[in-house]
Amino acid sequence: MLDSAARTPVILIIDDDSEIRYSLSRVLSSRKYQVIEAASGEQGIVIVKKSPPDLVFLDIRMGGMSGIEALQHIRSANPKQLVVLMTAFGTAQTAIEAMKYGAFDYIMKPFDPQKVLTLAENALKAHEDMRSAGEYKPTINSEDYKEGIVGSSPVMQDVFKIIGQVTASDVTVMVTGESGTGKELVARSIWKHSHRAAKPFIAVNCAAIPDNLIESELFGHEKGSFTGATGQRLGKFELCDGGTIFLDEIGDMALATQTKILRVLQQGEIQRVGGVDTIKVDVRILAATNKDLEEMVKAKTFREDLYYRLNVVRIRMPALRDRDDDIPQIVDFCMQSLAKQKKARVSKVSPEAMAVLTRHRWPGNVRELENVIYRSAVIAQGDTILLKDLPQEIRDATGSAAISMTPAPGAARSAFFAAATTPGTILPVAGPEAGAPPQAGTAMDSPRFAPASGAAVVSAPREAEIVAPAMPPLTVEHALDFLHEQLSGGEESILGRLEREMITRVLKAEGGNMVRASEKLGITRATLRKRVDELGLKI
Ligand SMILES: Nc1ncnc2c1ncn2[C@@H]1O[C@H](COP(=O)(O)OP(=O)(O)OP(=O)(O)O)[C@@H](O)[C@H]1O
Ligand SMILES: [Mg+2]
Repeated sequence: MLDSAARTPVILIIDDDSEIRYSLSRVLSSRKYQVIEAASGEQGIVIVKKSPPDLVFLDIRMGGMSGIEALQHIRSANPKQLVVLMTAFGTAQTAIEAMKYGAFDYIMKPFDPQKVLTLAENALKAHEDMRSAGEYKPTINSEDYKEGIVGSSPVMQDVFKIIGQVTASDVTVMVTGESGTGKELVARSIWKHSHRAAKPFIAVNCAAIPDNLIESELFGHEKGSFTGATGQRLGKFELCDGGTIFLDEIGDMALATQTKILRVLQQGEIQRVGGVDTIKVDVRILAATNKDLEEMVKAKTFREDLYYRLNVVRIRMPALRDRDDDIPQIVDFCMQSLAKQKKARVSKVSPEAMAVLTRHRWPGNVRELENVIYRSAVIAQGDTILLKDLPQEIRDATGSAAISMTPAPGAARSAFFAAATTPGTILPVAGPEAGAPPQAGTAMDSPRFAPASGAAVVSAPREAEIVAPAMPPLTVEHALDFLHEQLSGGEESILGRLEREMITRVLKAEGGNMVRASEKLGITRATLRKRVDELGLKI
């Protein structure tokens, strides 16, 4: 809560237009705010330096120093100063610049008094939340977690102990647990501590490789053993000789392949597909699954003998909700990793936000938590993740009554793709996973802001989305990461989708001119024509 009981928040209005200052001051004075005014950027900076107000409303276009310039001076004098920019021109350029230089938000003239008040309230709440996180003490130092496996709960201590016990031998280990609990992390840790650490670790995702290819992938093939086998190829087991193979999602392995894995385990030998020779391999097998293998054995979809061979040592990874004491440590670990990679610069979490994070059920476990911290860190202003920065669904799931200040992740995602084509969508859209480095001056190549339409508070129409937090600019690199992540789970192939979307966009941008479009795309006109026909695209 605001410490308004203790004192009245001070709001500074910087505008060279006295009428604007007057009307804005009237609106704000209707609440318990003390309003002060400055008629120029220069004057405003002096005030901010002398005694920083709680919030600044700053005009972008002024005689003398421009608003953007003043914003930079203000933020360098006081990096935590909250500033709302005011403009009569809602161009993409303005929006981008405003957010890039660290404005909390920006509004367009003429003002809707109610929206001005909501914006001021939200900004002041954020200001207070940041202050309340001032005392934040990290629970861990990520340097102490070289393994990347964080947690000090009793269940995790047990996991660490077993890892230690199994590293000295070549025993087969089965790691089970829900998705995102750290199964692969554990497998890698076993390998790193084993005597095989200098030899390869190869992870094979059995669910991702089609049944007809998995044997060739694992055991290799001889030339001509099947259509397309144009030469001999070594499989993972041969390539990994002396090392460790991690058979991930083993519950998805076909029965025929299971038989062959059993043979490796029993006899230490393989046969290439189409080959007659048996080849000795020295490979340690680690396996993981989130399936119930015991049930599969009962249903005869998983070989019982293989089950017992693999299940010599079992490591059960606990769900995150069963070790919620570890959550603050994982949160700190994630923030410190992001800072190290220069992807975000947050180092604190407000008490309210941490309470929500620790209460959440985390169906996607650590991977989901990691993802949420990344998304929130990218849109957070300053060095603190506030409640408003957490994705809507996390706040909703935990029953938080906080005012929604960010677009719902779903909305953000779809708006990300729609932004270029949906006029009037002016809300800055963060690809939630699209982490952008926070430093100013990063290339802004992606249309996160659609062109403005008419004068309105710069925000999506829903009241709940009024205060879009300042977001660092999005780079092509981050957009591509985001696309990769988003399209990976889709039904259509990634390239198929990108090709269709890019051809459509380029053709539109070139006004349907096939010659120019094909030049832009880097293909011949004939190829473009052919693809347009094949894909059934409209020109
Ligand atoms: N204890 C932990 N501490 C820190 N990060 C963790 C921890 N456990 C998992 N992670 C992180 O969470 C993500 C998911 O981990 P991992 O891939 O090992 O999970 P998984 O159980 O194999 O998931 P899936 O079943 O979906 O394959 C990774 O980015 C990993 O670094
Ligand atoms: Mg995994």
